[in-house]
Amino acid sequence: MSNEHVFAPPAAFAAQAHVNGIDAYRKLYDQAATAPDQFWGDLARKELSWFQPFDTVLDWQPPFAKWFSGGKINASYNCLDRHLNEGRADKVAIAFEGEPGDERQITYRELHRLVVRFASILKARGHQAGDRAIIYMPMIPEAVVAMLACARLGITHSVVFGGFSAEALKARVEDLGAQLVLTADGGWRRGKKIALKATVNEALEDCTTVRDVIVYHRTGGEVNMIEGRDHWWHELEHLASDDCPAVPLDSEHPLFVLYTSGTTGKPKGILHTTAGYLLHTTMTMKWVFDLKQSDVYWCTADIGWVTGHSYIVYGPLSAGATSVLYEGAPDFPQYDRWWSLIAKYKVNTFYTSPTAIRALIKQGDHWPKAHDLSSLRLLGSVGEPINPAAWNWYHHVIGADRCPIVDTWWQTETGGILIAPMPGAVPLKPGSGTLPMPGIIAEVVDVHGKPVGENREGFLVIKRPWPGMLRTLWGDPERYQEAYWSRLPGIYFTGDAARRDQDGYFWVLGRVDDVMNVSGHRLSTMEVESALVHHPAVAEAAVVGKPHEITGQAVVCFVSLKAGHWNHEELGKELRAWVAKEIGSFARPEEIRFTESLPKTRSGKIMRRLLRELVTSNTVSGDVTTLEDLGVLTRLAAQNDDEA
Ligand code: WTA
Repeated sequence: MSNEHVFAPPAAFAAQAHVNGIDAYRKLYDQAATAPDQFWGDLARKELSWFQPFDTVLDWQPPFAKWFSGGKINASYNCLDRHLNEGRADKVAIAFEGEPGDERQITYRELHRLVVRFASILKARGHQAGDRAIIYMPMIPEAVVAMLACARLGITHSVVFGGFSAEALKARVEDLGAQLVLTADGGWRRGKKIALKATVNEALEDCTTVRDVIVYHRTGGEVNMIEGRDHWWHELEHLASDDCPAVPLDSEHPLFVLYTSGTTGKPKGILHTTAGYLLHTTMTMKWVFDLKQSDVYWCTADIGWVTGHSYIVYGPLSAGATSVLYEGAPDFPQYDRWWSLIAKYKVNTFYTSPTAIRALIKQGDHWPKAHDLSSLRLLGSVGEPINPAAWNWYHHVIGADRCPIVDTWWQTETGGILIAPMPGAVPLKPGSGTLPMPGIIAEVVDVHGKPVGENREGFLVIKRPWPGMLRTLWGDPERYQEAYWSRLPGIYFTGDAARRDQDGYFWVLGRVDDVMNVSGHRLSTMEVESALVHHPAVAEAAVVGKPHEITGQAVVCFVSLKAGHWNHEELGKELRAWVAKEIGSFARPEEIRFTESLPKTRSGKIMRRLLRELVTSNTVSGDVTTLEDLGVLTRLAAQNDDEA
């Protein structure tokens, strides 16, 4: 290994690992590469429970894949029922802690009962396979119950992150054509009630498709229930039965749609189906998190993002893990809440994001040092490249130099982790996701699809289909083809730039498109721009991401105003609040910068690249609302017409 900053798997860790040593990793990787159908077929038979065996492993009509055709399966059965028969009935499935401090230890038996009873209520209300449900809930066990109850009946769910606004929620309800909404009165965040039901009411104002809204009572307080449409979850208990078997569904039955930002103003509905997704998330729990029956595992993501779907719900539960679920903010009531939870629940596997790590570093080492973190054996990172300072702190202060860090590269589209170390096998290099998972043929290529060679930058692509891959975009197969498969036919285009070093390690450098990454959340520049131009004062807007110490990137908006409007501090504030209202509070811009004109090519295309350079090199920060003279840039742009 040529790099000096290499961390070999600690001997004690490797000794107990599922995949022990680099040769074991290579053997798995080679098996999958040379005989993929046999590799995935064997795993699918061994690791999942089927109602009916499949007859074909992969049917690949680029870019459309079908995995495990002919099979009948159910995700809820795999996450619950099978564990009851395999001696895990009394094992804790979810160790829940609410932000106010309320606790629930839910065993697999109890979680199964909750899901069966809630599914039977949905069934009694006439919901069935093929229907669609929106889930807009706080991070409480009932959110998991809602997802698994839908999966049990074959209702395709779409979880919308609780931080999304009524506008964003409405767009998702409409695009999905949902019949059912599962929500709560509210959730707790930093000691305050986040009103979810009120947002649902606003989103559904002119909605014609939703006929049932089921509301879980969490926070208490004023809630406006619409007669005939809205029901309290507990008041439907009279419909519940303990007999509601999992419905045998096709392997390719749509399990969920998750909306994520693409390069246009309209979010993409990423579709994941049942068997392949389940296999991918189950296997990566074992390969990457080296999951053991006695582990206490905690992924801090929100279930509204893909990390929550794959590594709080489907992966861990299918693998029979004990998973911690925490409702609230890491800094409530103080900055050591997470560290105190690790000590309290004796968490040994902890999975979080670089942005959270950076925010907690800032508060000082005394917060984690006040707690016994000796239960930890493995740490994980996801969402963006992890910078060396954050890596070192995580490794030293949280992991006491003892715990490997698995830096996991993947996307909403990929369903599960594609590039990450197997911690007992692969030496780590801080900042690199290291090597691909078995069956993942990753490559760094130029615009023509030619490998760029060692240590050169290029596009990260995946050359073969894999079980957890997205199947299409909901209702938009053309955009699916266009967004991921059109540049290099038959090859999956990730939208990320990367470099591969002399040891074959992948270093992901960031997006190559107009997608920003703010606190590990994807946001498209176009989405923010179209929110801004909805405002009556705004003529034009251009949005770029600027490097940010804590959140990775921050949103900076260049705005020109319509005649009759002028820039002032208050309007800047108003526009920031406007974006938060249109999209969600996580999208609130860091800066609004007013300008008379935007730099454009002669054909009228905004030159975001120039603006990106401007915000990267310039030191102005905060809520800046001064008028920028972009005349220079505009003149420059005119000379470089073709560069956009
Ligand atoms: C980025 C989150 C570097 C990347 C699971 C990707 C990363 C986008 C990493 C997907 C990582 C995620 N190292 N970059 N370990 N993990 N990314 O869909 O740009 O919310 O394309 O999925 O996040 O974000 P998404």
